[in-house]
Amino acid sequence: MAKIAKLDDIVSLCKRRGFIFQSSEIYGGLASCYDYGPLGVELKNNVKKAWWKAAVQMRDDVVGLDCSILMHPMVWKASGHADKFADLIAECKKCNTRTRVDHLKDHAEEHTEHVNIDTELAAKQDLSCKVCPSCGKVGQFTEPMPFKLMFETQMGANVDDSMTLYLRPETAQGIFANFRNVLDSARVKVPFGIAQIGKSFRNEVTTKAFIFRTREFEQAEIEFFCEPGTDEKWYEHWKEFRFNWYTNLGIKKENLRFRDHDPDELAHYAKACVDVEYKFPFGSGDWQELEGIANRTDYDLRQHQRGMRTLNNWFESGCDLTKVNLKEEADDYHKGPLSYFDEQARKRYIPYVIEPSAGIDRSTLAFLVDAYDEEEVKGNTRNLLRFHPALAPTKAAVFPLVKKDGMPEIAHNIHDDLKKYFTCSYDQAGAVGRRYRRQDEAGTPFCITVDGQTKEDNTVTIRDRDSMEQTRVATDKLLNYVRGKLDI
Ligand code: GAP
Repeated sequence: MAKIAKLDDIVSLCKRRGFIFQSSEIYGGLASCYDYGPLGVELKNNVKKAWWKAAVQMRDDVVGLDCSILMHPMVWKASGHADKFADLIAECKKCNTRTRVDHLKDHAEEHTEHVNIDTELAAKQDLSCKVCPSCGKVGQFTEPMPFKLMFETQMGANVDDSMTLYLRPETAQGIFANFRNVLDSARVKVPFGIAQIGKSFRNEVTTKAFIFRTREFEQAEIEFFCEPGTDEKWYEHWKEFRFNWYTNLGIKKENLRFRDHDPDELAHYAKACVDVEYKFPFGSGDWQELEGIANRTDYDLRQHQRGMRTLNNWFESGCDLTKVNLKEEADDYHKGPLSYFDEQARKRYIPYVIEPSAGIDRSTLAFLVDAYDEEEVKGNTRNLLRFHPALAPTKAAVFPLVKKDGMPEIAHNIHDDLKKYFTCSYDQAGAVGRRYRRQDEAGTPFCITVDGQTKEDNTVTIRDRDSMEQTRVATDKLLNYVRGKLDI
């Protein structure tokens, strides 16, 4: 039976083997920011490739996009983020630590990803029984107050005419802002989706659990546009599609589940939302959000139509978006610039949107946790990462059994051939058993060993990481043998 990894095991393996490092570690580190090392960047790139392949390459109804991180400020006014994207926080009067109110209630374990600012709700929060997670004092909190989650920056060299911009807190809005461009250029018809992978930024009050919640992270999002009335069918489709993506890539079914959002938990734009949760090895009850799948209705496209109509007011009020009132919708809003004429149905409407929104870093963590294993082999502990071959940072390692008798030359040739097609490493240092263990810990699915027999019959051994079984394969069949196992 696979060992259940503890977060500490994962963090230490990631540092030891060069998957993930603390950012700016030489200066003491920067909280909640992480760097991906040589194995980590390969793993994360493979997660992105697998997502893109399933979401875009293999589907005829989804196209890709790559938007800039900085966008016009009206995007965030129209989307609701400028006014509503915040956490409620309270400050401990004794130690001045600021904590998210929902974290206090749930003892710093359960969470929602973000909440809407609701001043009425804030006033009602009773914190008299709550414990400060920093100093342990009870009920010594200020009134809850909203804490904005978007990072601000300035564009332009001159103080007087510089413009306040935001680092995007989700990639989704770049997709909505380009809906018309894609519609007019890509010969797509509703129902269709637009997919994007990219960095997002949130000034999270509390970060936690390694790369689970950070202030800079990568998202993989699809906005799938469909005719109103068909949205519930597509919602079910995407739930199943995304769940299967994780299990096809090796996540154990028993570690994955759906959790529907309660009505009071829904984001300001959503009619329905379900989380795909993974049983992470931390937190209360362990189950934590891996991905959200939301029915965003026509909220975003309608809001951007209102944003387009309102633009002049923004110039009048300078950069203060809070002073801008979005213009009321025209009665015929469904015929506006972001509407769609459905030739088959002979009608015009603003499409509804189903949004599967995954975190690349969070998925990477889940793949690491799920792959982690320890087992006893002949009285020794073997640490390994049982990655699906498509995700493994290095697909194959090539060894000469010994550093003589022409074996290194043959092994180098094999390595040079294979690395044209997939990531491959060469290792001749130490006993072959130790080389196997090094590759097990890096999650390499295949080790190829050149031995005395190779010179005689042009065969090598391939040792399988999971079963440790060795098979003899002809050198000219190696490429197809390994490639055949990499497909998802
Ligand atoms: N566009 C919808 C949206 O952004 P979300 O639930 O806030 O929805 C989607 O985020 C996913 O992005 C989450 O399920 C999670 O995987 C990832 N994510 C969100 N905030 C994160 C953070 N601070 N650190 C790492 N991943 C995060």
